[in-house]
Amino acid sequence: MKILVTGASGQLGQALQQTVPQGAELTALGHAGLDIGEADAVASKVAELSPDLVVNAAAYTAVDKAESDEEAAYRINALAPGYLASAARANGARFVHVSTDFVFDGTRGIPYAPGDATAPLGVYGTSKRAGEEAVLAADPQALIVRTAWVYGATGGNFVRTMLRLMAERDEVRVVADQIGTPTYAGGLADAIWALSAAGASGIHHWTDSGAASWYDFALAIQEEALAIGLLDRAVPVHPIPTSAYPTPARRPHYSVLDKSAATAIVGVAAHWRVNLRSMLKEIKANG
Ligand SMILES: NC(=O)c1ccc[n+]([C@@H]2O[C@H](COP(=O)([O-])OP(=O)(O)OC[C@H]3O[C@@H](n4cnc5c(N)ncnc54)[C@H](OP(=O)(O)O)[C@@H]3O)[C@@H](O)[C@H]2O)c1
Repeated sequence: MKILVTGASGQLGQALQQTVPQGAELTALGHAGLDIGEADAVASKVAELSPDLVVNAAAYTAVDKAESDEEAAYRINALAPGYLASAARANGARFVHVSTDFVFDGTRGIPYAPGDATAPLGVYGTSKRAGEEAVLAADPQALIVRTAWVYGATGGNFVRTMLRLMAERDEVRVVADQIGTPTYAGGLADAIWALSAAGASGIHHWTDSGAASWYDFALAIQEEALAIGLLDRAVPVHPIPTSAYPTPARRPHYSVLDKSAATAIVGVAAHWRVNLRSMLKEIKANG
């Protein structure tokens, strides 16, 4: 099977490459290899490679910057996924796209199911929702996997930021009134391959198991990092409300995803803390 992965240098793009199904012939293209915002380039690259499966891991992910960079966020998150889905369909390939918990406003208070009404709070979430619609319009059989709070051993993410701040500072303040599910990029990649192999289509949700606030997540990062010597001293971690950490983009207060439909296909996800522990060991092992 020939597979094309776009956005290959990102957190998920890297994880997809590390977990690619055995025997697959993989072409992984970073931003320089294929700008997904260029419709003609997308059409000709997909035709040239003639893959059986296209997985789009590329996105405009700078949530706060998107508020003042709407045109770029829309080009990459709303229009480009449609170009990829059309090109995949024209070449007889299956298409898999990745979306976000930020399509929800976070007011529901119980986990969101894939069919629940969307109501994004900012430009990033709105652009990602428009991308979902563009994908399904171009290819109703496409698979869209919504996920949340993604981190990998490389790339810019909350875990790596916390490790740095906890090493540099004498105390750390972390938002305690946003609840979601930390999700390890490697586990997400495995789930994407499994859903895709099972022929899943439409919108599915996938995160690690469990739920946490950013504050809970930060405390766990500190505890697990201390336990394996990745940090050498504990600093106080203080819970703060969102109002004490203003950001350009509003974020949902509660965006846990109901992934029961995907779980029925893939099996139960590892708990976020179990995956956090493995990821920190990976960082420790790689120096
Ligand atoms: N990270 C999260 O917490 C999170 C949460 C929910 C959903 N998601 C979704 O999960 C998916 C993967 O996210 P991630 O965490 O792996 O993001 P990431 O680490 O920021 O990677 C995104 C990649 O997309 C590339 N890219 C940006 N514009 C591009 C373009 N026009 N053409 C080709 N490549 C382009 C970026 O390359 P450059 O940096 O070189 O531009 C980057 O390597 C995305 O769909 C994202 O919306 C992420």
